[in-house]
Amino acid sequence: MDYQRTITLAMTGASGAQYGLRLLQCLLAADCRVYLLLSRAAEVVIRTETNLELPETLEEQQLMLSQTFGAEDEQLLLFGREDWFSPVASGSSSASSMVICPASGGSLSAIAHGASNNLIERAADVALKERRQLLLVPREAPYSEIHLENMLKLTRMGAVVVPASPGFYMQPTRVEELVDFIVARLLDQLGLEQDLMPRWGEE
Ligand SMILES: Cc1cc2nc3c(=O)[nH]c(=O)nc-3n(C[C@H](O)[C@H](O)[C@H](O)COP(=O)(O)O)c2cc1C
Repeated sequence: MDYQRTITLAMTGASGAQYGLRLLQCLLAADCRVYLLLSRAAEVVIRTETNLELPETLEEQQLMLSQTFGAEDEQLLLFGREDWFSPVASGSSSASSMVICPASGGSLSAIAHGASNNLIERAADVALKERRQLLLVPREAPYSEIHLENMLKLTRMGAVVVPASPGFYMQPTRVEELVDFIVARLLDQLGLEQDLMPRWGEE
């Protein structure tokens, strides 16, 4: 099966697992192949913030998430935290864009400094060195000087920071609408069709 795009989606341990999971669902529905990377803290946050009963092993997680979000065979591929032989570890990867959603302050720091100590940090390092699209969705309040400096540094390197701060001008009444507000902005950034949100001035 040929997919229109391959996108790397990393979820790290900031609050807001729902943003990442909804984005995953939308990417799969938009006929993208998704390489999914979960940090250890992301797994904790998913289990804390959602009803999803995330299994322990990578194989079980891939099966469960594929079934939950209706992915085709091989459309959703999960890679382990030290799987240095996975496609995302190299500049030769076919993934055109990477999204870190949600992005923890810890991962932002590691990426801003090129630590590459796990596959998420390495994949982001690759995206930066290859000048590929890198979208970061931090969630913290307030931001420290360290967070702000790291975001500025990453922005100057070409990454785009899309903070998890939904607007309220559509008068949302459900959490799902707030989640979709951010996911719609991410899909716009990725250049993927979306009708999750009416566009400002176009209603
Ligand atoms: C339930 C929960 C919520 C958290 N929320 C945030 C958050 O909103 N922002 C953040 O930067 N870190 C948050 N953390 C802390 C990070 O998970 C922690 O710093 C972790 O080391 C990040 O590792 P990672 O970047 O590899 O996922 C949270 C942790 C837990 C367990």
